[in-house]
Amino acid sequence: MFRQLANRILVPLGLELVRRHPQVIPDPLPDDALYTGPEDYNRLFRPWRGSAMDRWFTPSVMGNTMLSRQKLYTLMQSVRLTRSVPGDLFEAGTGSGGAARLMLDVSRELGVRRRGWFLDTFAGYQKIDAERDGAHVSINQCKLAPRDQVIEVLSDPLADVHVVAGLIPGTLAEVTTDRIAFAHIDVNLHEPTAAATRFCLERLSPGGVIVFDDYNWPACYAARHAIDAACRDFGQELISLPESTQAILFRQ
Ligand SMILES: C[S@@+](CC[C@H](N)C(=O)[O-])C[C@H]1O[C@@H](n2cnc3c(N)ncnc32)[C@H](O)[C@@H]1O
Repeated sequence: MFRQLANRILVPLGLELVRRHPQVIPDPLPDDALYTGPEDYNRLFRPWRGSAMDRWFTPSVMGNTMLSRQKLYTLMQSVRLTRSVPGDLFEAGTGSGGAARLMLDVSRELGVRRRGWFLDTFAGYQKIDAERDGAHVSINQCKLAPRDQVIEVLSDPLADVHVVAGLIPGTLAEVTTDRIAFAHIDVNLHEPTAAATRFCLERLSPGGVIVFDDYNWPACYAARHAIDAACRDFGQELISLPESTQAILFRQ
């Protein structure tokens, strides 16, 4: 009604008020009203844009990740917070390895020797739960770099790096760690997100951190439910980061 009235004035002026829809949303999305655009300020301090950050956002990182500078900044600062937390680095959904490279670079700068576990099919989505994940995802989608290339990106003489190929949850059996300090979970789909989150929560040291990449993105609606269910079962809470797809959990 309001739009029609507004358009009576706007259209003769060459303008039009239109309803904005997210590009990809699973259908049905019961709490659609909670997926909206920015609401506060449009001018904010955004340190990740400054050239001071360029030393972190190297070609090995930026050339091998889907993450924006904003998301990489969250990841980087979260790894820093775990400086004195015992345990390994873990990533579910390593893709081409750029975000993992940053995790290793930050640990090295902090003088922390970490073991790193980096998991992916290295062939994109190979198993989809059509009912939960939605009709908008398909087999082979999100196919990034092959494992050999990722091993090169992540080669690090100061870290003990394990690049594990195959489907999560199956490959979690190869991750022989009992303590995790920092984890990044970015597999988009329900089953691997649920399994990786539970695996990490079972092993996350006190003070440890998990960054979830796609918590607020409507296309990963089922992954958010998997994360919420795991947090409930483990008595943990997270923060959905405003104006980002990410969420962050600090182990209590
Ligand atoms: C959004 S991409 C990861 C992006 C990456 N973190 C980066 O920095 O660009 C999601 C990844 O999840 C992987 N993936 C999806 N389902 C998986 C599963 N069941 N097991 C292992 N990897 C999976 C895909 O192969 C894809 O590389």
